[in-house]
Amino acid sequence: MDQGSSCGSNSNCKSWIVYGLVTGAAIAAAAIGAAFSIRGSGKFRSRVIGIIPARYASSRFEGKPLVHILGKPMIQRTWERAKLASTLDHVVVATDDEKIAERCRGFGADVIMTSESCRNGTERCNEALEKLEKKYDIVVNIQGDEPLIEPEIIDGIVKALQGAPDAVFSTAVTSLTPEDSTDPNRVKCIVDNHGYAIYFSRGLIPFNKSGKVNPNFPYLLHLGIQSYDSKFLKIYSELAPTPLQLEEDLEQLKVLENGYKMKVIKVDHDAHGVDTPEDVGKLEALMRERNLV
Ligand SMILES: *[C@@H]1O[C@H](CO)[C@@H](O)[C@H](O)[C@H]1NC(C)=O
Ligand SMILES: *[C@@H]1O[C@H](CO)[C@@H](O)[C@H](O)[C@H]1NC(C)=O
Repeated sequence: MDQGSSCGSNSNCKSWIVYGLVTGAAIAAAAIGAAFSIRGSGKFRSRVIGIIPARYASSRFEGKPLVHILGKPMIQRTWERAKLASTLDHVVVATDDEKIAERCRGFGADVIMTSESCRNGTERCNEALEKLEKKYDIVVNIQGDEPLIEPEIIDGIVKALQGAPDAVFSTAVTSLTPEDSTDPNRVKCIVDNHGYAIYFSRGLIPFNKSGKVNPNFPYLLHLGIQSYDSKFLKIYSELAPTPLQLEEDLEQLKVLENGYKMKVIKVDHDAHGVDTPEDVGKLEALMRERNLV
């Protein structure tokens, strides 16, 4: 079973992770003084909530969060994984749908009702955050359609954001397989030497001079999990769309185009998201094969 924050046999990316963390720690140490004077609290961005946004209506897959994956609703599987993350103080489901809310309360989840008008998961997270009584420094947006998300990945992006005070956003990438390299639905990412995102694209980046995929280049695939500084989350939803965001139809580009920094961690993870009813069977087969029942 894959574990987050390690890169298996690729020693190149291992050293990159370690480098990112060490650098982050150094920056964090420098910024702790500032955090003290602002809030009088010792640990930077210490209060963390995981929010699983879930809506019933979906153009591609009606009722998706409640679809059963080997006998359990998909959203319950996501929630159980999220509960295992040690950095989350609290996990909630944010939904506009009573059926989903009822099922989630049934297996013990806390639920926040959000309005039907939320256009996307980010907006739903923001509304949920505003409705919570307690204040949080970091919000992790956990997509309900990644039921096998490793708790280590959640912890990894939280720690990355805590260790990088100059970043407002953190996310994860994994190795891109050659078969996926030209698929525009697989979003590629490039990062700088310190593990900050340079760019995300539906096209292959970097692009080899030969015009062909370079089998030796460690291309990176973006995973749909992200965490934000909660103050930034408000700004994020209000930022006007930007040219590169609109051209690629990638929400996160808005962050980079406005000059904000985004920390990226590299993890080992087979993406097995559920987008269509056909994906359910594929995921179940994979879980049986790996004995994940
Ligand atoms: C492009 O890819 C090839 C391998 O396919 C590699 O040898 C070469 O260094 C890469 N870069 C350039 C600029 O050709
Ligand atoms: C999500 O909603 C926000 C508003 O909160 C908007 O700025 C953004 O463009 C939306 N993203 C998508 C992918 O629809």
